[in-house]
Amino acid sequence: MSQRPRAAIASTGRYSPARVMTNAELSEIVDTSDEWIYTRTGIRERRIAADGEGAADMAERASRRALDQAGLTPSDVDLILVSTATPDRLLPSTACDLQALLGANDAGAYDFATACSGFVYGLAIAEGHIVAGHARNVLVVATEKMSAIVDWTDRATCVLFGDGAGAAVIRPADDERGILSSYMKSDGRLADLLYRPSGGARTPFDVAVLGERGHLVKMTGREIFKSAVRSMCEAADAALQRAGVTADEIDLLVPHQANIRIIEATARYADIPMDKVYVNVDRFGNMSSASIPVALDEVREQGLAGPGSVILMVAFGAGLTWAASVVRL
Ligand code: ACO
Repeated sequence: MSQRPRAAIASTGRYSPARVMTNAELSEIVDTSDEWIYTRTGIRERRIAADGEGAADMAERASRRALDQAGLTPSDVDLILVSTATPDRLLPSTACDLQALLGANDAGAYDFATACSGFVYGLAIAEGHIVAGHARNVLVVATEKMSAIVDWTDRATCVLFGDGAGAAVIRPADDERGILSSYMKSDGRLADLLYRPSGGARTPFDVAVLGERGHLVKMTGREIFKSAVRSMCEAADAALQRAGVTADEIDLLVPHQANIRIIEATARYADIPMDKVYVNVDRFGNMSSASIPVALDEVREQGLAGPGSVILMVAFGAGLTWAASVVRL
């Protein structure tokens, strides 16, 4: 194992909105069924944020839990890194709004946009800042209000997503625990497989955009599915190899929760049996970058992985982006 300076996950936290939306309820909104959704995706229900509840609000709830777990207060935080595809406002960043909500007044804060791969990218970004000596206590938060950007008239996408937030405190590693490897990749040539066509700087939001629903998520599901399996397998391989760890040595795979069939294909390829794979897509749907940290917090709470466990996280999302990380908890 390499002796380079490392960063470790000191604690985690999560937040799920109270409102549960079942597949049955969705079938009253669009032409779908529990049977179709469950057999194609493994999703039974998802959480939906309340009106007026934003990405920063959810992030605050998850962050406070992670800080409490680490025995830290907001004023101990040096840096806040927020992954979100659903910022509350286009200016300023959700990270700055979160900073204000937390009262983490001594921190720097910024957002980054790598969609569903965000938490795994965020671990590597945090590690970079820690190893470079920019920060000691870094809050990595993934918060997603997907219900605000999906097209509720498009049955092919609205059934897949849910809302939530997950957070982790990353600190310098002082023993053999920590981030053992990271792998990050993207392919911008495939951006239009999963995107929001308008509402940004090139085509600012206006009445025409609203009429075309161009500000909402568009997805080519089948192509995304194929790319997801291919790239998650590549990322898993690369992260294991960089960590010098074999699949046998992985105690738990915590994959992005987009679709149970993508998860099963990734696990099969990585040679990790499904009893070592954490799945919560049935309860939450795809919460984009919040999926992995929410899963990680559940895993730790349930004692499925704890200090010393070696976990593999692997994610895939819009961009396209994909990433994996091997971490000794
Ligand atoms: N209910 C009922 N029928 C539906 C629904 C629905 N919710 N959605 C689509 N259909 C219909 C389609 O209209 C189509 O009908 P047709 O044959 O009459 O045209 C039929 O079902 C089959 O559609 P496909 O898109 O071919 O179905 P597929 O088996 O590919 O499953 C799915 C669709 C579940 C979206 C799959 O492609 C998938 O999971 N793709 C990956 C999507 C994903 O995970 N995206 C996010 C990943 S990245 C990130 O996390 C941001």
